Amino acid sequence: MGIKFDDKRKVFFLTTQNSEYQIAIGDGGVLLHAYYGKPVCAADMSYLLAEIDRGFSGNYYEMRDRRGFSPDTLPQEYSTFGAGDYRVPALVVEQDNGSRTLDLRYKEHRIVQGRRHSEILPYVRENSDETESLEIDLFDEVAGLTVTLIYNVFASKDVITRSSVIANTSGNTCRLLKAASMSLDITYKKMDLIHFHGRHAMERQMERSPLTHDVHMVGSSRGTSSHHNNPFVILCDRGAGEDYGECYGFMLMYSGNHAQEVEVDQSGSIRMVSGIGREDFTWKLYMGEAFETPEVIMTYSSRGLGQLSRNYHRIIRENVCPPEFNDYKRPVIINNWEGTYFGFDDNSIKEMMYAARQCGCEMFVLDDGWFGKRDDDNSGLGDWYVNMSKLPCGISGIADYAEGLGLKFGLWFEPEMINEDSDLFREHPDYVLRDPDRKPVMARNQMVLDMSRPEVVENIFCQMKEVLDGADISYIKWDFNRSLSNVYSVAAGREGQGEVAHRFVLGTYSLLKKIRETYPGIMIEGCSGGGGRFDAGMLFYTPQIWCSDNSEAINRLRIQEGTCYGYPVSTVGSHVSASPNHQNGREVPIATRAIVAMSGTFGYELDPRELTEDEKEEIRKQIDLYNGYYSLIQNGDYFRISDEYSREYFTAWSFVAGDKTEALLNLVVTDVRANPEIPFVKLKGLDPLARYRIDNIYSSIKEKPPESGFRSMIGVGNSYSGAALMNGGLALDPMYGVYPAIQIHLIKV
Ligand code: GLA
Repeated sequence: MGIKFDDKRKVFFLTTQNSEYQIAIGDGGVLLHAYYGKPVCAADMSYLLAEIDRGFSGNYYEMRDRRGFSPDTLPQEYSTFGAGDYRVPALVVEQDNGSRTLDLRYKEHRIVQGRRHSEILPYVRENSDETESLEIDLFDEVAGLTVTLIYNVFASKDVITRSSVIANTSGNTCRLLKAASMSLDITYKKMDLIHFHGRHAMERQMERSPLTHDVHMVGSSRGTSSHHNNPFVILCDRGAGEDYGECYGFMLMYSGNHAQEVEVDQSGSIRMVSGIGREDFTWKLYMGEAFETPEVIMTYSSRGLGQLSRNYHRIIRENVCPPEFNDYKRPVIINNWEGTYFGFDDNSIKEMMYAARQCGCEMFVLDDGWFGKRDDDNSGLGDWYVNMSKLPCGISGIADYAEGLGLKFGLWFEPEMINEDSDLFREHPDYVLRDPDRKPVMARNQMVLDMSRPEVVENIFCQMKEVLDGADISYIKWDFNRSLSNVYSVAAGREGQGEVAHRFVLGTYSLLKKIRETYPGIMIEGCSGGGGRFDAGMLFYTPQIWCSDNSEAINRLRIQEGTCYGYPVSTVGSHVSASPNHQNGREVPIATRAIVAMSGTFGYELDPRELTEDEKEEIRKQIDLYNGYYSLIQNGDYFRISDEYSREYFTAWSFVAGDKTEALLNLVVTDVRANPEIPFVKLKGLDPLARYRIDNIYSSIKEKPPESGFRSMIGVGNSYSGAALMNGGLALDPMYGVYPAIQIHLIKV
């Protein structure tokens, strides 16, 4: 495992436990992609690099008689524009003389133990000594450009990350017009593309479609990774399912504009290009400067989509999220947003805290509305000092009250935003990101701060510091409630405007980094109108992200399932909210709401003063259950149980402990039926030879169906072999009523 270079054959072998990646230095130093797939025990796969003259595909000058050796048809390791490769390029550079032709050739390489990392971009952290990295320098003599391709191999986790650094080694200035992190050419395959589209309050809906002979682009030009297209795509075999078939995942670790481009070329070869989006990007690279691209987390699974998801869950949990919170038991949160919106004062907040504590909640989060002149969404953003007319006891008074009750305390910020009606805007109107000759585009009555400017970042940091130093705060909810538009910085000059969108993201990262370094014990939950910035870049700083502003359990089934294709449940902010739900008006039993919310960082988002005694009792029970299953849910292996057919009737998923000693099955019926089919599931990931006993059943079902004549086959104490549960399956009781749900805890006996 790890990285090897065969000097004779000129082939690099990057091997993980269950995958192998090969790069060949072809004739003339052309860097070719030879293989990515199941391990082949370092067999040199470059024999697959077929040379065919396809016509209208040019040849390198020095090999002009070798008509099959064409940049247009051979699988390239990093594609560039202008020198005969007509497929989607990863890199386009305008040089000093205006030329945009690039012809990169191998120069040298280094194999490094461990990994180097960026100081300005998030990265996959090295864990103990498992990482090895390869740096290949490519050089274009005429352009005076060196491109370093970086590969970090996380062998035991089946992950390889890729990025590139573009260095101007010429005596002139050049301009990057496109600088993607990677490209990958996959040959001899017919594949499907899976991506996760959506909108506000309906994020990450999984969509799967067969690739056709065109370019498919999944991306965002909103300045953030967006609700609309997550920077994560999967390419998989046409027939791949949960447990079988080859799949490749590409997850860009970046929170701004992005583009995931997939092309099927004339010969059926698939090219994947992933990186920063092109629309609002140009970058002037002066002599001696280098540009770093964000990392792409790649994984390969020969065992279907389920394994691919679990590979991502592990690497994100253990190597992406801040390590301080890996083993930290996240408190059960109650957040006041859906309980009060802007309408609260210190009395009502204290009453809510008291009622929440009675229910067993562990942390109170004070959401939007505590600062500046913030009584609605027209004013206050940018003024991070307490609204004394609402909270005369100040944040410290509220935090102290929480502490007195035994609750931790968290606070909402939206650091990158500003209202026209704010002291910050009155004092610094130039801090806003906008073309000064135009009226700004407004969204939710707010504008975006110019985070590309260090003095803006510093101003917000100092304001936040004042608040964080003044009270015992153990959590921040970091929100971002609009897309960017009018992207223009008065500080960037005419030439620098194409850099602002990326510099904005770097500014945000620098603020997050500074807050993290100054307050390592404060956990940050990311948020952007719910899940508008749910990406691995943010997860590097914020180990959990509010998954969606849609807190309704039945809609959440799809949102959370889509999210968990790439991201572990430990990152998914998920709360029980009131019924009828505020977003779609649906009524769902409290047990069903909790079963769905438990597959995330569990909490409540309602006014606890309005709960009945029975509901309070139920919540106490739910919190006890969740805390008991905490490690199993957060660190266990996640399995999607329902398939595309059963999903019309119910959604089921499970968690299995790493040592297979316990499992938790969850099932929600979304389409109750008369004279119903028996909900039938096959469990996954158990030890076939072990015996599992049903230890607990938690369910929304209070009564048996009338006159069903059904003899229940499940009950606490029943036991089955792992093989029986996985191959024979489990027949559950028919479920009646409104969105019934069941959660079954199994332990190995
Ligand atoms: C966003 C968040 C919500 C809440 C509001 C407050 O929409 O996603 O949870 O914090 O902002 O304005």
